[in-house]
Amino acid sequence: MNINPASMIHPNRSRFVDRHVLVSGGAAGVGAEAVRLFAAEGARVSIVDIQDAAGTALSEEVMEAGGEAIFVRADVSSGQEVSHALGVANERFGTVDILYNHAGSTIVKPFLDTSYEEWRRLFAINVDSMYFMTHGVLPGMLAKGKGVIVNTSSVSAVLATPMEVLYCTSKGACQMFTRSIATEYRDQNIRCNAVCPGFIRTAHGLREIDALKAYGVDVTEAAIAELQGRICEPVEIARAALFLASDDASFVNGETLYVDNGLMART
Ligand SMILES: NC(=O)c1ccc[n+]([C@@H]2O[C@H](COP(=O)([O-])OP(=O)(O)OC[C@H]3O[C@@H](n4cnc5c(N)ncnc54)[C@H](O)[C@@H]3O)[C@@H](O)[C@H]2O)c1
Repeated sequence: MNINPASMIHPNRSRFVDRHVLVSGGAAGVGAEAVRLFAAEGARVSIVDIQDAAGTALSEEVMEAGGEAIFVRADVSSGQEVSHALGVANERFGTVDILYNHAGSTIVKPFLDTSYEEWRRLFAINVDSMYFMTHGVLPGMLAKGKGVIVNTSSVSAVLATPMEVLYCTSKGACQMFTRSIATEYRDQNIRCNAVCPGFIRTAHGLREIDALKAYGVDVTEAAIAELQGRICEPVEIARAALFLASDDASFVNGETLYVDNGLMART
């Protein structure tokens, strides 16, 4: 499958000129593709991640291509680190116009083999992170009279997978966080939507598939093809996130966009 690299998409589009976009989990995978696309369309991009080398290399790549980006290290499960990262990002590019809450992780294990510490840790990464980030950027958006938030959820928010009780529950929370923020802040001109992918060819996705296989869950290439045609390429999710982040989606609010090649349509 020939998927065009992010840098080749919409060379003449400039939907994000003068916008400060913050991408959590922006150093790799879908987040990195989104960083490239946002920057190519004129955004000033703050990349927040725990991967220093990849994040720094990506910010350099964007600047060499004529764009604007900085890398700020933060573990999004820590309120203190998020607060520090937002301070650095705001100092450099002004308050955030578009927040893409993408960083996340999974734990694949039978429920009874999981510990409460693992439950807390996964919720801290997948759910507390959205609280810290959104709580941090909303005042600036309200002061400007507009803002956009895009959260990365998953088909796992509504389609349960064995061995992923912790992950599925955390993504269910992401879904309601999205709807609740949209409901509370619509009249202040804030939009909040979620992207819900199926299996994506990223470190996270490939690790998840291997771990599920090890527990005997059928996620062979053939099984994934049956579910969603083929594995999804990271840029295909990034493009959907950019649509929700852009003014093209000006009347889309509180929505969950399944980007899964028909997987959910069969449920
Ligand atoms: N890959 C899939 O199949 C799939 C499917 C549905 C949803 N998702 C969601 O996508 C996100 C994973 O992204 P990806 O698929 O691009 O994988 P990825 O592993 O390529 O990227 C995830 C990024 O998040 C960063 N990250 C992880 N924990 C962090 C933390 N505590 N603080 C800061 N950064 C952190 C990683 O360093 C990495 O750069 C998660 O939210 C996941 O739930 C992935």
